[in-house]
Amino acid sequence: MSAIAIMCSGGDSSGMNPAVKKFVDYAYDKNLTPYLIYDGLEGLIDGEIKEAKHEDVSGIIHLGGTIIRTSRSKRFFEAKYRQNAYENLQKYNIEKLVVLGGNGSFKAMDVFCSEFDISFVGIPSTIDNDISGTDYCLGVDTALNVIKNALDDIRDTSSSFKRAFVIETMGRDCGYLALISAITSGAEICIIPEIKYDLKSLQKRLRQEIEDGRAYLIAIVAEGTESTDTIKQWIQTDLGFEARDIVLGHIQRGGSPSVYDRLMAFEYVAFSIDRLLEKDKVNEIIVYKNSQFDFLHIKDIANKIYKIDDRLLKLVSKMTH
Ligand code: F6P
Repeated sequence: MSAIAIMCSGGDSSGMNPAVKKFVDYAYDKNLTPYLIYDGLEGLIDGEIKEAKHEDVSGIIHLGGTIIRTSRSKRFFEAKYRQNAYENLQKYNIEKLVVLGGNGSFKAMDVFCSEFDISFVGIPSTIDNDISGTDYCLGVDTALNVIKNALDDIRDTSSSFKRAFVIETMGRDCGYLALISAITSGAEICIIPEIKYDLKSLQKRLRQEIEDGRAYLIAIVAEGTESTDTIKQWIQTDLGFEARDIVLGHIQRGGSPSVYDRLMAFEYVAFSIDRLLEKDKVNEIIVYKNSQFDFLHIKDIANKIYKIDDRLLKLVSKMTH
């Protein structure tokens, strides 16, 4: 039986465990021997590779995070460590890899594949939803539900106290989490890197609403704008509202994978394994675009910046200026 391995790399996201489970089950269905690489690229360098049995992945479908763990590796930038990694894979005759990660991990894998006889398919997995070429990254739906639950709870206390809450969401330079959360949780203000905000015009609208009886305010701020404190101060001084700020932080990366993330994990993995079996040399990323799965060469996505759909941006324009 030929060998195939799976690894997580970069920030974890919910949906990785269902993906690992499907990987093992589907590999056996296809008469392959599945291997798990623990601790991401760091573990690959150190040879943390284990043949997987069904029992290794039973009872994990509902768990957030990743049982095979992940890492961000600086060592992998150095050729001598990539050589170690390759030698570790050779010990098990592994030439095919499925990698759950983001742009940084895919670029690292692209270099690795160009140096050695290795094929890989990358599965976009990050709560940031910031990978060009795909509409969806594994873990986003679960993160959005975690944020939704937090916002619903914050709304309870905000409305009881006539207070404003400024809630900072993750996403690095991408405002996707903040944007979708603002729309679906009914926020009054949404500050994201993709849209220049205008406090003067927001002030005009909100002052009027406050005069008309608005009793509390919810502002969602994407971490990439670095504006959480500015917005809080502005609400206090210019809108005359007592304000509190909350950085949601890493809770957004946790939580039991949503139904959608479980399903996406299964589909991403099955199509990725099929692709690795179809072609001799693959260094591609599986993408989900317009409700279809497709494969793009890493070079077609790695250095491009993900752009949020204009249709979605329009939906929050009133909350930005
Ligand atoms: O890329 C995922 C992410 O959670 C970002 O949203 C966030 O900026 C970053 O990772 C946090 O990184 P770390 O886990 O290293 O603190």
